[in-house]
Amino acid sequence: MGNNAVYDKLEKCYQSVREKIDFVPKVAIVLGSGLGDYANDIQVVAELPYTEIADFPVSTVPGHDGRFLFGYVKDVPVVCMKGRVHYYEGYSIQDVVLPTRLMYRMGAKILFLTNAAGGIDDSFQPADFMMITDHIACFAPNPLIGPNVDELGTRFPDMSEIYDKELQNVIRSAAAEDQIPLREGVYVYLTGPSFESPAEIRMLRTMGASAVGMSTVVEAIAAKHCGMRICGISCICNLAAGMTENPLSHQEVQEAANIAAPKFKKLLTDSVAKMGAV
Ligand code: HPA
Repeated sequence: MGNNAVYDKLEKCYQSVREKIDFVPKVAIVLGSGLGDYANDIQVVAELPYTEIADFPVSTVPGHDGRFLFGYVKDVPVVCMKGRVHYYEGYSIQDVVLPTRLMYRMGAKILFLTNAAGGIDDSFQPADFMMITDHIACFAPNPLIGPNVDELGTRFPDMSEIYDKELQNVIRSAAAEDQIPLREGVYVYLTGPSFESPAEIRMLRTMGASAVGMSTVVEAIAAKHCGMRICGISCICNLAAGMTENPLSHQEVQEAANIAAPKFKKLLTDSVAKMGAV
């Protein structure tokens, strides 16, 4: 064992994966709410439930099934997280990013993040897609806090281009070819699990956020730290608190995500297919 507990745990998980599967992915995909059945669009060659990986954090949210899928999107080798872990479930922030780092250790060069989010931008409608161009971490611990894992990256990593410009162009061109309207904007992360108050949403809008959610940002920070290229798309499932008369509910979010899912899956598939060439 080394002297960094975070790295030791990662390596233990990695060895546990490699005892079962030798697949080397290029793109790591994280599926947000509503995209759980994306597996049907992947030519799956292997599956690994999180529970079979020693020490791996396991999710508790209804609708989040926990397993890695290995396979091909068109001819691009991918590993896909079906079910992610969230900070609000009570895991340490280091555990929340362990799966991301594990997919990096498996060989993934690109991280494709997806999520369900609330729309803050006045022009957004439920079932819109927003490509993430930048993010804000709000009142949330940084996943790199603690002794730096030198094997992964530097102590003070640059974050001036978290979401890769070339990957953004790939997603834009896939959306244009598919004739799927694509919004763009800044995703702001709060820990949840409570939805925001209307006053918080006004604050977030003033800060320059276009959409709000409870995931993605910490994974992006950890992935940037270890040198992955990152891209992300939010499915706008509802207008944020205070923007309509309706109270927010997880059920509403899931229903909207399910309705948007076929287009979301097409955009994801066609974007990933193009990433074979970058
Ligand atoms: N706020 C936070 N997270 C969310 C929302 C929201 O309005 N919708 C979907 N995820």
